[in-house]
Amino acid sequence: AGLVVAMDGPSGSGKSSASRGVAKALGLRYLDTGAMYRAMTWWVLEQGVDPADTDAVAARAVEPEIVSGTDPDAPTIHVDGVDVAGPIRGARVTGAVSQVAAVPEVRARLVALQRQIIGDGGIVVEGRDIGTVVAPDATLKIYLTASAEARARRRHAELSGGGAETTTVEAQQAELARRDTIDSTRKTDPLSLADGAIELDTTALDLQQVIAEVLRLVEE
Ligand code: CDP
Repeated sequence: AGLVVAMDGPSGSGKSSASRGVAKALGLRYLDTGAMYRAMTWWVLEQGVDPADTDAVAARAVEPEIVSGTDPDAPTIHVDGVDVAGPIRGARVTGAVSQVAAVPEVRARLVALQRQIIGDGGIVVEGRDIGTVVAPDATLKIYLTASAEARARRRHAELSGGGAETTTVEAQQAELARRDTIDSTRKTDPLSLADGAIELDTTALDLQQVIAEVLRLVEE
């Protein structure tokens, strides 16, 4: 089977940029599982379902067709044929996604989809539970971390660059902390260090250094 690189870690740890960079460098596919949870959340909100209504979310989780592209140069995400790449990054979805992702039926559905996409491998997969649940037999498992402040600064820079929302580093730090708490304390598959995962603290590293370090670990 082909290479599977699992990249887990909390928000703002630099997972997405690093995962795409590694996939490009190795000519592998790339899967952003967070985008799938965000797409499910977008659909839930679009349907007028209360994201806090666990039973309603669970009952309807099988309905939307969620399709993720795997080209690291141009990641795409569609729900029932609608391109949702923009709206899934908005504050509305970000505010509700951890709640929706905590619903076991949502996770069961998306994990199954993710395993289908991973197939025979040749892919870099980023998320929260890739090394623990989705692909426990991955060739290499990386757990990216960074200080809370560094993560907030990065997320703030990303959002400001997009120009879509006005926010402050402090507001981002509070939002990341809120999501971290839900993501690491939920009952089903909480964010945690997988068996055999290598922890990489990116606080003092730039993107190229993170990519280089992961590539070095792949070579080992
Ligand atoms: O990029 P960012 O850290 O903002 O988050 P993301 O990777 O887009 O994931 C958004 C949310 O989806 C997370 O806060 C988790 O609640 C959930 N998620 C998850 O539960 N399991 C995954 N494998 C990926 C994301």
